[in-house]
Amino acid sequence: MEESVNMATFPLIGDKAPSFKAKTTQGEISFPEDYEGKWVILFSHPADFTPVCTTEFMTFASMADEFTALNTELIGLSVDGLYSHIAWLRTIKDKIEFKGMKNVEVKFPLIEDIKMTVAKKFGMIQPGASDTMAVRAVFIIDPKAVVRVILYYPASTGRNFAEIKRIIMALQKADAEGVATPANWQPGDDVIVPPAGSCGVAKDRMESTPDDMYCLDWFLCLKKSK
Ligand code: BEZ
Repeated sequence: MEESVNMATFPLIGDKAPSFKAKTTQGEISFPEDYEGKWVILFSHPADFTPVCTTEFMTFASMADEFTALNTELIGLSVDGLYSHIAWLRTIKDKIEFKGMKNVEVKFPLIEDIKMTVAKKFGMIQPGASDTMAVRAVFIIDPKAVVRVILYYPASTGRNFAEIKRIIMALQKADAEGVATPANWQPGDDVIVPPAGSCGVAKDRMESTPDDMYCLDWFLCLKKSK
């Protein structure tokens, strides 16, 4: 039997994020118009009233101020309807306590996407996993509506929201200072300067490294973070 190949299309890193209008728990939204100049985390979850998703929503909503401080807006999505979303978010606020979080109010918009219109634009329906529920997708989109990061997780794995925040901080650092961030980088850690682009620069870096820089080799130089 021939193997089937999934030809679904969705934006890749560096592509413009597809535009959409959607009904949400915070009213109608238009992307990208309503989000000009902001970073956006567009994320999907498989279904309302499910355990892993509930812990994820509580965690994300509890970090809302931290994302606001990073000029970042959150938008959730599942293929459930609006009344299901509302009922689930009310249950979370009124009844669920998890890891010290309680009375958690989800103030960011949660898209209803029964027809999967938005989910399909972002490759959130992956039929090998399920053709009736979205996977756990995360699209990090920059203020010019360009996709910068794509993460996909299966239904059984709750996401690490501290890592998602770290990614936003790393992208903002890279954009602001023209640097890259090393493995396990955290704010305040040293950053990587762009590799030497010529033999002359490589030689200079090794023989007279600038004061604010240190080189492990000609292609791996770091400096203190601003
Ligand atoms: C959950 O969030 O717990 C979940 C959702 C869909 C399938 C399996 C688990």
